[in-house]
Amino acid sequence: MTATVDRDRLWQSHMEMAEIGATPKGGVCRLSLTDEDKVSRDLFVKWAEEAGCTVRVDTVGNIFARRPGTDADAAPVMTGSHLDTQPLGGRFDGAYGVLAGLEVVRALNDAGAETRAPIDVVVWTDEEGCRFTTKTMGSAVFAGLIPEEDVLAAADPDGRGFADELRRIGYAGTEPCGGMDVAAYFETHIEQGPILENEGIPVGAVIGAQGQRFFRVTVSGEEGHAGTLPMTMRKDSFLGAARMADAVNACAFAFDPVPVVTVGHVRVRPNSRNTIPGETVFTIDSRHPDEAILAALKEQMSAACGRIARDLGLGLEIHEASVSPVVTFDAALVQAIRDAAKVLGIPCKDMFSGAGHDACKLAAVAPSAMIFVPCKDGVSHNELEDATPEDLAAGTAVLLRVVEDAANRG
Ligand code: GLV
Ligand code: MN
Ligand code: MN
Repeated sequence: MTATVDRDRLWQSHMEMAEIGATPKGGVCRLSLTDEDKVSRDLFVKWAEEAGCTVRVDTVGNIFARRPGTDADAAPVMTGSHLDTQPLGGRFDGAYGVLAGLEVVRALNDAGAETRAPIDVVVWTDEEGCRFTTKTMGSAVFAGLIPEEDVLAAADPDGRGFADELRRIGYAGTEPCGGMDVAAYFETHIEQGPILENEGIPVGAVIGAQGQRFFRVTVSGEEGHAGTLPMTMRKDSFLGAARMADAVNACAFAFDPVPVVTVGHVRVRPNSRNTIPGETVFTIDSRHPDEAILAALKEQMSAACGRIARDLGLGLEIHEASVSPVVTFDAALVQAIRDAAKVLGIPCKDMFSGAGHDACKLAAVAPSAMIFVPCKDGVSHNELEDATPEDLAAGTAVLLRVVEDAANRG
């Protein structure tokens, strides 16, 4: 019997998962290592165990739910994504990759299908990177790209430590993180952009992802009384940061094609109505498919911020918090996705990812590729993020086929 995806079961699982951290406008707030993250992890573990999987958790909290193969020594085929979300996130960013993986296991179970290699459905810890120091933390440690000690030592802006929070929610596992062979890694995700929807194509074969550089900028001034210190005598760190935000945005337009540059997080100290801000820390997220442009952009943004700091008599420190190179996914796996879509009669087009994903980290240690499906109006990182049961099922049908084939290859 051929394994087939159950569209309604897949949709129902999304809707149930989306109740955890549900927001008033229909989105989800499930920040990494919070109580909501724990509840979503617990639900996944329950579903995975009900589907016959054995669950392991590693030292940074990545969860691996294994459907055994007939050859216990074979390297697993992995698929997964993340359950954490943005503060005002949607129901599908991340959850889709996890629940599509679970649906693959359920569909294979329904069909009584065995595979040679085991299949691991993975929940990676803290993909979104909006709580602690950087993003794709779990997958980056797994791939050996960042030190585990740095991740465990990270703290959120309120001073709560990653390691403490991981223990608190009960997901500080004992399995070593990484250092294992992975036969292939597939990740399904909503596109988070408008291309597939505009072209009426249900599946994207993702050939790569743009590079990213992420900076934390500290602007130092001097606190002072808002009512008494004359305007010409101030060292207002927020004024400097505001001008810098405008300047780095303008820097982007000096390049063709234009990179994307976002100042998304700002922390003002002491954040009081009537004290001149003494210190402002803000982030710059910059992305482009060309490394040379990213490097040149960095120079221009640094120079522009430096000029503003000098003009206003402010201190400036620019820390490059993370660098994610341009990623090219495994050509054979991308071809397998195209072929599977063709056999299933599902229109498919090649595309590039603007967002970062756990697959971009896995690509450093395993053949990896991604399957995209459309999302409504290309909207993501937004409570209104939406996708259709049909498109989610189409992407999962392609995933089922490529995972099963990869797990049966000799
Ligand atoms: C992940 O959501 C990203 O920032 O691309
Ligand atoms: Mn995501
Ligand atoms: Mn995201």
